[in-house]
Amino acid sequence: MKVDVLLGLQWGDEGKGKIVDVLTPGYDVIARFQGGPNAGHTLEFNGKKYILRSVPSGIFQGGKVNVIGNGVVLDPLLFKQEAEALAASGHDLTKRLSISKKAHLILPTHRILDAAYEAAKGEGKIGTTGKGIGPAYTDKVSRNGLRVGDILHDFEEKYTVAKARHERILKSLNYSYDIKELEAEWFEALEYLKTFNLIDSEHMINHMLKEGKSVLAEGAQGTMLDIDFGSYPFVTSSNTVCAGCCTGLGVAPRNIGEVYGIFKAYCTRVGSGPFPTELHDDTGETICRVGKEFGSVTGRKRRCGWIDLVALKYSIMINGVTKLIMMKSDVLDGFETIKACVAYNIKGNEVTEFPYEVDDSLEPVYVELPGWQTEMTKMQNEDEFPEEFNAYLTFLEEELGVPVKIVSVGPDREQTIIRYQED
Ligand code: GDP
Ligand code: IMO
Ligand code: MG
Repeated sequence: MKVDVLLGLQWGDEGKGKIVDVLTPGYDVIARFQGGPNAGHTLEFNGKKYILRSVPSGIFQGGKVNVIGNGVVLDPLLFKQEAEALAASGHDLTKRLSISKKAHLILPTHRILDAAYEAAKGEGKIGTTGKGIGPAYTDKVSRNGLRVGDILHDFEEKYTVAKARHERILKSLNYSYDIKELEAEWFEALEYLKTFNLIDSEHMINHMLKEGKSVLAEGAQGTMLDIDFGSYPFVTSSNTVCAGCCTGLGVAPRNIGEVYGIFKAYCTRVGSGPFPTELHDDTGETICRVGKEFGSVTGRKRRCGWIDLVALKYSIMINGVTKLIMMKSDVLDGFETIKACVAYNIKGNEVTEFPYEVDDSLEPVYVELPGWQTEMTKMQNEDEFPEEFNAYLTFLEEELGVPVKIVSVGPDREQTIIRYQED
């Protein structure tokens, strides 16, 4: 069997959590391969809403193996809080979640460093989630990181060395902080972490593939936040693209199967950085209000704009997307017309390939399509789609060259329409 990958094609928050949950019944294993508690994946079913940060979105469908892979950075304290809240609501994870010993730890001082670096950048700040993601991945790459497996032996010694190094940096930045309480809780959380199945997940996943088990890899963030291909430096610190699944789980490239690329019918971004189709007008406000576009982790207002096909094509190319999933279609229900950006005008030149530099001189070139002005949230089947909506889908499929297989018309698990057209 092969590993299917589901990943975001925009700037995150496309609705990955919801769709992983919907697809989970068709898989044996659900695995996270990168990112950490910067993610906020929302699932809704039976009138309840859950927001997952480090835990894979496969945990609500019984009998599945869930894995936090080696490419993830894990904050034991945030993980404990998340897992305990889930247990309190009747979803005990200890029997169904395995964690890679090679996943890197987010230390309390990583969180402080994240804040200190942002403060030092002033106006130029990234607008991170403040979870210590950048500093933790920095330590991994500079070979100073601590891993989940380290908590099993002589951890205090390694921790003391890492903390002292961080403290020297914080001193040089003149950043004042107090981590005593946080540190004590963090250490308690290590004991909790030890109660989980800590494994070499690359072996587990490859054994399962050999046994014919199916695996769904759940991406976090989005392609435009990828450390290599995103709008650097306004990105996260991991490879959010499909290749990140190979390194983040130990899966060979030839064992990648379907690549599900997920996008919103419009576009959002949270944090700083370029966003060519951003709307600073009433339309942007309406999308934000109707789409409830506020960060699921930080509560920050998300910036909103029209769909950007230049960026989407780029994401599809980098990831080798085989199937598209369009989310939040219902948010556009009320619009008379809908715009889609098909090119960028850069100093008089029309550009259709995502450029190296995206600055204020860039102007999106739009195509305008008729809106469907029909409520879609209760639709169950694609036969019910209004004509204008079908025209929008056909337009997107022709532009992007990949079929749209799933359409989401609301936040609930049930508000999902799987299209039945042939490949
Ligand atoms: P993720 O990080 O990619 O999992 O996405 P988030 O959970 O951060 O953000 C997606 C938001 O949109 C969540 O609040 C979801 O409940 C909500 N959502 C998902 N699909 C739909 C949809 O089709 N329509 C509407 N209106 N909301 C949706
Ligand atoms: P999910 O998985 C949206 C953004 C932050 C910031 C930048 C770097 O829910 O889609 P970081 O804390 O990673 O160093 O922040 O990346 N960011 C996200 N934006 N959704 C996410 O995750 C994000 N994770 C990080 O806002 O701009
Ligand atoms: Mg999110």
